[in-house]
Amino acid sequence: MLAMKNQVRKTISLSKLPVRQRHLLKQICRLADERGLSVYLVGGVVRDLLLKRKNWDFDLTVEGDGIAFARLVADRHGARLVVFERFATAQLVFQDGLKMDIATTRRESYAQPAALPDVEPASLKEDLYRRDFTINAMAIQLLNGAQSGRLIDFYGGERDLRERRIRVLHERSFQDDPTRIFRAIRFEQRFGFRLERDTGRLLAQAASANLIQQLSGPRLRNEILLLFAERDPVRTIGRLARLELFRFLHRRLYYRKNVKRVVIAIPKALAWWARRFPDSAIDRPILYVMALASGSSPLVMKAMIRRLALLREQAKNVTVGKSRIDRALKKLTDTKTIRPSQVHRLLADFSDEALVLLLAEQISRQQQVRLSLLKRHLAAYVKNRTIKTALTGRDLQTMGLKPGPQYKSVLGKLLDARLDGTITTEAEERAFVQKLIGLAG
Ligand code: CTP
Repeated sequence: MLAMKNQVRKTISLSKLPVRQRHLLKQICRLADERGLSVYLVGGVVRDLLLKRKNWDFDLTVEGDGIAFARLVADRHGARLVVFERFATAQLVFQDGLKMDIATTRRESYAQPAALPDVEPASLKEDLYRRDFTINAMAIQLLNGAQSGRLIDFYGGERDLRERRIRVLHERSFQDDPTRIFRAIRFEQRFGFRLERDTGRLLAQAASANLIQQLSGPRLRNEILLLFAERDPVRTIGRLARLELFRFLHRRLYYRKNVKRVVIAIPKALAWWARRFPDSAIDRPILYVMALASGSSPLVMKAMIRRLALLREQAKNVTVGKSRIDRALKKLTDTKTIRPSQVHRLLADFSDEALVLLLAEQISRQQQVRLSLLKRHLAAYVKNRTIKTALTGRDLQTMGLKPGPQYKSVLGKLLDARLDGTITTEAEERAFVQKLIGLAG
């Protein structure tokens, strides 16, 4: 679909790179010169250099044995090296934590749609042709000790960047690798680009052909979480819904009005949380998954967790469940007074993400008075949730309480009293326990 063009000849200055990266590229370039090899920066970093966006995630490719060259670089720099023979790729981690991929220029073939590709060495031109979109299919050949580079752009990537277009390189691109359906949306939303007409058509075809179903759980999860890690997941979610892509998470996962309202409220809830608790970071991508699932039945949620192969902590978060959220909201937005210890009980096993979801749910209901009440409870709860009793089980033992199930209940009552402020010192705790023991005896 894309006529191969004569490549553009253009020199790119690398002087804007940070000193550390420039220095490293210079050394790598020298090493390549010594061996008579050509080394290229490829993929996202080239795109971002042209867009003047920061991206220090360097992918290098070598016409020749990339892995042998990666070994050499790792040796010289004392970097850690992980080799993926099957993909002719090596990953280096330098002593200061900087990461870099070095690969052999290669072609890929897909035995079946959505499978991982078979790989064999090929020219740079073929290596660029196997890539997802023209804007990601450019290279910069390192020259002059990496002072500058020669832009290599066989497929019109630079023009597409200028004209703000996402374009696949060939008809089979989405079939070969359906993760590209999500990648297309990710770049479209991130850069505010649009899909070129044929690409849009091919994407819609691929989406309706159920290819995504064949992706493994971890690959699908990765794409979804990457999408939700972008700046504006709300728009992205709308886009995914219009393309009816949520059916691949679960055939009964619908983006209904009530769910949409919660999703739209998430940025506001997050902003409140960040203002109040700047040190408690929220796992935003998972929060958006939780919001999406918030209108679903426990069965649908469970199946979705399995489909995405969510990790244990992520899965626990997502299963917080509508009924628990509704129950907590009912109590926390009631004008009747509720003691801090009761709030604590209601929220004790909510993760921070679940607390933000709770807030978003209330924001979406547009009831100002109840929302203020909830915010007050949440703020107090998070501030006080680290409160502990001074006495421990061992103290109870020395005070003569026989070990048994009553320990849990005594310590629980003690904590409640602490949270509610009816006792504030260790001496008061002791008196409180004495009284309880006395009553029990
Ligand atoms: N690539 C591809 N098809 C994929 C994944 C990656 O062709 N399904 C190629 C693209 O050339 C891409 C490069 O591999 O630029 C590196 O992939 P990755 O690091 O995932 O993407 P980036 O373009 O660097 O995106 P980001 O800015 O989100 O890191």
